[in-house]
Amino acid sequence: MIQDKKIVFSGVQPSGNLTIGNYLGAIKNFSRFSDDYKTFYCVVDLHAITVRQVPAELRRRTYETLALYMACGLDEKKNTLFVQSHVPAHAELGWILDCYTMFGELSRMTQFKDKSAKHSQNINAGLFTYPSLMAADILLYQTDLVPVGIDQKQHLELSRDIAMRFNQIYGDTFTVPEGYISTDTMKIMSLAEPTSKMSKSDPNQNAVVYILDSKDDIIRKFKKAVTDSDSEIRFSEDKPGVSNLITIYGAFTGKSVEEVEREFAGRGYGDFKLAVGEACADGLAPVREEFARLMADKAHLEAVMKSGADEAAYYARKTMSKVRRKIGFVN
Ligand code: TYM
Repeated sequence: MIQDKKIVFSGVQPSGNLTIGNYLGAIKNFSRFSDDYKTFYCVVDLHAITVRQVPAELRRRTYETLALYMACGLDEKKNTLFVQSHVPAHAELGWILDCYTMFGELSRMTQFKDKSAKHSQNINAGLFTYPSLMAADILLYQTDLVPVGIDQKQHLELSRDIAMRFNQIYGDTFTVPEGYISTDTMKIMSLAEPTSKMSKSDPNQNAVVYILDSKDDIIRKFKKAVTDSDSEIRFSEDKPGVSNLITIYGAFTGKSVEEVEREFAGRGYGDFKLAVGEACADGLAPVREEFARLMADKAHLEAVMKSGADEAAYYARKTMSKVRRKIGFVN
């Protein structure tokens, strides 16, 4: 099989219910590459266990994340959709890359610092070496482009450094990947604390809108969203709550910031929040419907993960045999 298309890889952890941050920052953008690139979209369950998971929930969320990929428009015939632990080469290359990643580099990762503060009882080695496994995911497929939200930029830069370091020692082995960060929606903020990222692990349910929330829940959450004490609907650094709502409304309606500001000039926050809630709920309705349909047919999801893993393993094998030879492992 000759591969002349450029390669896209991205992944989502099945570690919680997915949010509109995951949707707008990452998954919604994935399908734009399906026609012109060879695309790999992975459910990264090995990454998810860096934080303690309830086994039955992890299993259920793995199916759900795959179904959400498909419900968000990823056709399994045009995209390779698979589960990370089904392709053991991820763990194997992850270990190898651990040996080319420096302690100091991993210590500087802000996600490690944040997560170790949050999970102080379980600062395990996997949490620390998480970025080398992420580099393995990306480098295994000779990836050119990685669509992600801005929170993954530091990990992506480390992946590039690891690739360049390896290439420098052993000669050209890995493609050095570029990030694809969609500027408008690269960081959707919490509705309760608009200076922090909206996160699937946030315990405050009102701070987070999940892709699968009901219309009523979505509207209720936006009605409660924190704004500020004046009443002007304007995008500005000193108005993080309102700016976040403008971003979300723009993303669901396709309108620019200026168009949104014009539409709501002279109107109150109440009106605006209701409109944002409705646009979001209506935009997600088809995803919710398609998700329910897909989840009702587990056998089909299993067939998709199986053929995705077979396809991914084929590409992974090519990289692994090159890596093993270069390092000096006996064939
Ligand atoms: P994860 O599971 O935390 O998030 C999945 C994707 O959603 C993006 N994202 C956001 N974008 C905008 N606003 C937000 N509030 C928001 N929250 C999350 C993330 O940037 C990400 O693109 N380490 C990765 C998973 C991973 C991966 C990979 C990604 C593992 N291996 C290889 C790309 C390539 C993560 O934890 O994503």
